[in-house]
Amino acid sequence: MKDPLKTELLAVALEAATLAGDLLRDGRPADLSVAATKTSPIDVVTEMDLAAEKLITTFLAERRPQDGLLGEEGASTVGSSGVRWVIDPIDGTVNYLYDLPSWAVSIAAEADGETLVGVVAAPMRGETYHAVLGAGAYCGERALRVRPAPSLGQALIGTGFGYLTERRAAQAEVLRSLLPEVRDIRRGGSAAIDLCDVACGRLDGYYERGLNPWDFAAGALIAREAGALTGGRPGAAASGELTVAAPAGLFEPLQQRLEALGAWHD
Ligand code: IPD
Repeated sequence: MKDPLKTELLAVALEAATLAGDLLRDGRPADLSVAATKTSPIDVVTEMDLAAEKLITTFLAERRPQDGLLGEEGASTVGSSGVRWVIDPIDGTVNYLYDLPSWAVSIAAEADGETLVGVVAAPMRGETYHAVLGAGAYCGERALRVRPAPSLGQALIGTGFGYLTERRAAQAEVLRSLLPEVRDIRRGGSAAIDLCDVACGRLDGYYERGLNPWDFAAGALIAREAGALTGGRPGAAASGELTVAAPAGLFEPLQQRLEALGAWHD
């Protein structure tokens, strides 16, 4: 990779994600509890989400003071460099709260509306995924490649659910229709890891309604650079409305089925 900006952004993102991952893995209090709730009583924040976001934003501000920041727990600055960091200090907060291992630190760097670099550190898996736009996706040193696309009926599909009651009821309806039509469905609890699982062939495809940019920015780049297509409703980019990721051959049938099921609205 010869682009000096992307090289620098990747090095900074890897270091920040590693520092935060170490803090979260080694510093998790045994009696960890909910510090606050956000959009609903089940949308929670712990003291460790806040501590990890603080660590990451302080680190980024020292290394790249001119950049903008957008963090799940409220960090928001407009920079002057044209680069913006999109940060989820703990993607999979409910898993982290319950000491389930599927949680990750997700950090993306974007410019001109494009994600240039994505890093997803999953410390309890001992794995860190990264991708640079145009330069492939990796888990450590291992290049990632999606699994060959199966038919929809043979596909193992990941998904997730939002925190609002009405949305969850709509998501349950979609699931009720889709489940008998695919190999099986997984709900891992971290969208960033789900997208990395598509990248490394542990899932055939993934979809979810209601994600925020910090949930999917890094993971979607990793999935794309591993050969997946990503998007939303037919013709639209991945967004909070709908995020779909799968290899060509599965992407379109999955996207079409989700469209027919109205998976993009509550
Ligand atoms: C959540 C996770 C989960 C997904 C939710 C997200 P958070 O992120 O990615 O898998 O289903 O929609 O909000 O709240 O743990 O950062």
